[in-house]
Amino acid sequence: MTMKERSSPTYVSKYSDNLLHRPRRNRKLAALSDLVQETRLHPSDLVAPLFVLEDENAKEPINSMPGIYRLGIKPLIKEVKDLYQLGVRAVDLFALVPNERKTPYGDEALRENNLICRSVAALKEEMPDIAVMVDIALDPYTDHGHDGVIDSSGYVLNDETISILCQMSLLAAKAGCDIVSPSDMMDGRVEAIRRCLDESGYQTVGILSYAAKYCSSFYGPFRDALQSAPKFGDKKSYQMNPANVIEAIREAHLDMQEGADMLLVKPALPYLDVLAKIKEEIPLPVGAYHVSGEYAMVMAADEKGWLDADKVLYESLLSIKRAGADFILTYAAKKICQML
Ligand code: PBG
Repeated sequence: MTMKERSSPTYVSKYSDNLLHRPRRNRKLAALSDLVQETRLHPSDLVAPLFVLEDENAKEPINSMPGIYRLGIKPLIKEVKDLYQLGVRAVDLFALVPNERKTPYGDEALRENNLICRSVAALKEEMPDIAVMVDIALDPYTDHGHDGVIDSSGYVLNDETISILCQMSLLAAKAGCDIVSPSDMMDGRVEAIRRCLDESGYQTVGILSYAAKYCSSFYGPFRDALQSAPKFGDKKSYQMNPANVIEAIREAHLDMQEGADMLLVKPALPYLDVLAKIKEEIPLPVGAYHVSGEYAMVMAADEKGWLDADKVLYESLLSIKRAGADFILTYAAKKICQML
């Protein structure tokens, strides 16, 4: 059929008059398409990951994450106030540890009154309504950059690491955090942390467990931000193989049985199937971590004029929510809320 025939009125009437189903009717007006919209993004769905550093007044840009900074405690408080104004009421804190304080066992993680403790205490004092989460893992604190302590062959030791993670969680709880968020992928750490918190009287401190954390190449900019890239090898002996989904469901079941209050899937966009399956199977709130690399590649393309970051980030977060996320950790939290 030629183009001319195709667009002739005869063609239109012959095939169109008897079309019963025209989904486009619901898209005719914004007022209608908004009426039938299935998923909505709300500022209260978002958790802002924030990087803190020692120098109280500092605000250092992170090269690979345009718009994101390492913040001293004073600018941190301002940032969280701004987020609160925009409707974001949950933050997750990560510390930049000076290289000279990094050790094989990550001792700085267990030092009373370390940067994380001071940041949590300062935030909760200024804004008790904010939900403060603390990442629990040793990689920013170890000189080798792995999430736990290693043996002479470089293998990350499970049970030895867990006992440190328990102490780290206790310290964060004492400082006043609402949720500890183990991101290390050791086996059995959720139960150990739960029991340890309970024994010390912190029954009300929750656990957001990274149930399915993949060994992903999307964490690069985060490791720049904290100077925490592993000094040797990779994280494949503890983080999950990107090829697996049944294993993710197993991890999610285990974390639920061990007493996790919420689960996390990470990264987000390349793992929406994993998110959807876990959401279907597990009766717990499930979040997704839209990670540094997912944010950075959009911002980089935006800088080149190839993509519109606001629109692409909005679509990304909406998709993550549509796939089943109850909440999303994202560096785009502020940007999106300014837009919403
Ligand atoms: C550390 C941790 C990482 C991220 C969150 N917690 C990095 C890693 O596992 O190497 C990555 C987050 C991001 O890329 O935004 N356990």
